[in-house]
Amino acid sequence: MQNIKVRPVKDKQELDDMFHQRWLVLRAPLGMDRGTEKDKHEDSAFHLVAVCDHKVIGSARLRLLSKELGSIAYLAVLPEFRHQGIGTKLMEKLIEIAQEKNLKTLRLMSRIHAVNFYKRLGFREEGEPFDYLDVSHVFMHYKLQASQKKPRG
Ligand SMILES: CC(C)(COP(=O)(O)OP(=O)(O)OC[C@H]1O[C@@H](n2cnc3c(N)ncnc32)[C@H](O)[C@@H]1OP(=O)(O)O)[C@@H](O)C(=O)NCCC(=O)NCCS
Repeated sequence: MQNIKVRPVKDKQELDDMFHQRWLVLRAPLGMDRGTEKDKHEDSAFHLVAVCDHKVIGSARLRLLSKELGSIAYLAVLPEFRHQGIGTKLMEKLIEIAQEKNLKTLRLMSRIHAVNFYKRLGFREEGEPFDYLDVSHVFMHYKLQASQKKPRG
């Protein structure tokens, strides 16, 4: 993970670069057009990127569904940067942010091939697999610990 930084998106240009990177990983392989990588929740969501030499190579999104429930979506790492711990780092950072926001549960829709990746992070499968965009998925959730506030004084 040398020279790779995981941090929030810093400006509009980087946000656009992130959407392009998301499309490359999650939509182009399905034959889907540019634009299909976004949904109506982008403006209100929190976007995290992994950047290497000013290039967005990984990304993921956290969105609050309620005061207690967060949704993680669009985790994507460019193929040539995989298996170096970048996906794990993105997820760990989102879990840390969720913890700071005092969320109780995180939810996501995992592609079947990524189930073990999320299990290793502590996510658990929920319900039966289903098809989305012709790809088999399953819902998964993660229970956050109640944060330990330091006693005053
Ligand atoms: C799923 C995805 C985000 C994982 O990203 P990644 O950066 O490769 O993730 P990591 O490197 O943290 O972990 C991937 C694997 O590499 C292994 N790994 C991590 N660091 C490693 C290292 N330094 N050397 C060798 N292997 C390593 C991990 O143990 C992990 O194994 P597992 O999948 O069996 O649990 C990526 O494969 C991807 O973008 N896939 C396409 C899109 C997708 O499926 N997104 C998720 C859909 S919900």
